[in-house]
Amino acid sequence: MPPRPIIIDTDPGQDDAIAILLALASEEFEVVGITAVAGNVPLRLTEANARRVCELAGRSDMKVFAGCARPLVRPLVTAEEVHGKTGLDGSGLPDPTMPLQDGHAVDWLVETLRAAPPQGLTLCTLGPLTNVAAAMIKAPDIVDHIAELVMMGGGYFEGGNVTPTAEFNIYVDPHAAHVIFSSGVKLVMHPLDVTHKALMSREWIDSLRALGTKTGTAAAGMLDFYERFDMEKYGEDGGPLHDPCVLAYLLQPELFKGRDCNVQVETGSELTMGMTVVDWWRVTDRRPNCHVINQIDAAGFYDLIRERLARLP
Ligand code: RIB
Ligand code: CA
Repeated sequence: MPPRPIIIDTDPGQDDAIAILLALASEEFEVVGITAVAGNVPLRLTEANARRVCELAGRSDMKVFAGCARPLVRPLVTAEEVHGKTGLDGSGLPDPTMPLQDGHAVDWLVETLRAAPPQGLTLCTLGPLTNVAAAMIKAPDIVDHIAELVMMGGGYFEGGNVTPTAEFNIYVDPHAAHVIFSSGVKLVMHPLDVTHKALMSREWIDSLRALGTKTGTAAAGMLDFYERFDMEKYGEDGGPLHDPCVLAYLLQPELFKGRDCNVQVETGSELTMGMTVVDWWRVTDRRPNCHVINQIDAAGFYDLIRERLARLP
């Protein structure tokens, strides 16, 4: 089976970092490139963090591009309270030495997708959707070259994590999310409804440290820092590891369950800005435009991540 060509759009972010490591450790993927977007922290940090993680994985050859520094319409909202001022607090990783690619990520997305065969590339989005939406606005024809877009974002029965109704990735750029959800692209959404069902455990984080590798040590350090916020917020014994759900789904879809639904994004009301309105019970005649994931085999998910990260240096 030839590897699946993927592009990762990301705002590292410790959970993004684990997702990128999972992708780079898995021969089932050909990671064609990584595009950074402003989100958890400003773009100058997310692009540097993406390069830090690639170097940790021994992939200083990876193409990393910087994309949009702010959302399409609204001002940038960041999340240093969760990820620390560097966005990768706890990693202990040095400044990157591998180069950042010339050119804007949006332009690279357009030219790369146009050069791909129909349904030739899978997009994995781990942050606000600004880059991909800007590419679709610039070149609507790229949708035909996308096999599927698998995102971490949104929330419905679980509500929101940045407002009572909105999850961070969608809240930061709701207009970009609206572009994606109305583009006709084949869409798979991993909302808080699934990510909150797979909480890290102390034992699991310690098992990464016990790998005795640079990757295991850096990952454990990142997650030690990252989980404290969610444990305080939710009062749980561990925090959710949101972004790796996207790559785990592509690796082992049997770990997940969901339903085809219509999803709309609130872009008018300040009260519910960025809410993903999921017609889970089909009470409207709106056509389903997204496969919404809401179940996960948490044990299988964490076993997969550990097994793959153990392959890295
Ligand atoms: O709400 C969780 C999402 O927001 C994750 O992608 C996390 O990295 C942040 O970007
Ligand atoms: Ca993210």
